[in-house]
Amino acid sequence: MTDDVLDHSRRKFFHFGAAALFASLTTSHAMAQSVSNKLKIGVIGSGHIGGTIGGLWVKAGHSVLFSSRHPEELKPLTDSLGPLAKAGTVGDALDFGDVILVAVPYKAIPELAKDYGPKFAGKIVIDPANAVARRDGEDLLKETKEKGIGATTESYLKGSHVVRAFNSMSYTHFVKEAHRAGDPMAIPIAGDDERAVQVASQLVRDAGFEPVAVPLARAQEFAQGGPLYGQQLTGKALRERFGLAK
Ligand SMILES: NC(=O)c1ccc[n+]([C@@H]2O[C@H](COP(=O)([O-])OP(=O)(O)OC[C@H]3O[C@@H](n4cnc5c(N)ncnc54)[C@H](OP(=O)(O)O)[C@@H]3O)[C@@H](O)[C@H]2O)c1
Repeated sequence: MTDDVLDHSRRKFFHFGAAALFASLTTSHAMAQSVSNKLKIGVIGSGHIGGTIGGLWVKAGHSVLFSSRHPEELKPLTDSLGPLAKAGTVGDALDFGDVILVAVPYKAIPELAKDYGPKFAGKIVIDPANAVARRDGEDLLKETKEKGIGATTESYLKGSHVVRAFNSMSYTHFVKEAHRAGDPMAIPIAGDDERAVQVASQLVRDAGFEPVAVPLARAQEFAQGGPLYGQQLTGKALRERFGLAK
């Protein structure tokens, strides 16, 4: 399962690839799910996960500001998505979004807190970041295991309402399975703030999946290494695995 950091050339390739993907997606299903509550979403880290999930939200009618430390590299992605997609800096994404997707290597979360801390207060943060020792460091991985990964993100991004989501499998499955025919693929999500969980659930549906929500502490069960990591299940099967009422 690929879950690695991209170097610049690979990232550029991904953006062109994503452009082709979104241009070729038949939008009928996604657009038919017209979003009554259109949101302003800031994406921090517009790589595999940020580009894919943010793109699905644009297709569903949300306004998305994709950000990068090199925003000029995002033009192929935003051009392919049309006027609801904009590119900017990380600060622009935080100013723009009521909801922020932090699709960055986990070690970037403390860095974002240091550089932009107060801007996260009051935001709904959707967190797909996995902590991986070789990339993010043993200490941070240990911290996520001891405190719980959702609580760790919340402890850095103070005042935000964190919902863990879209972390449990490769982005390639999100590309392939969004809005599939028949039972949608389930996405486990975890959060404690009721409104944030409601908004995140709607965004999971708008992306073409079925949300199955548990409290933030249970994010460990679908964190990398957890029993539900990598599982592609229907909503019914995932609720059973969580031991939730059907
Ligand atoms: N790839 C997957 O299939 C997958 C699946 C589930 C979860 N995840 C998790 O999702 C997160 C993103 O993974 P990805 O595969 O999408 O990575 P990626 O393609 O490498 O994209 C990550 C982006 O994060 C940005 N970034 C890195 N350090 C940053 C910092 N200090 N401040 C701001 N932005 C920073 C980079 O953007 P700029 O250089 O343009 O600023 C980069 O494009 C990771 O935590 C990963 O473990 C990935």
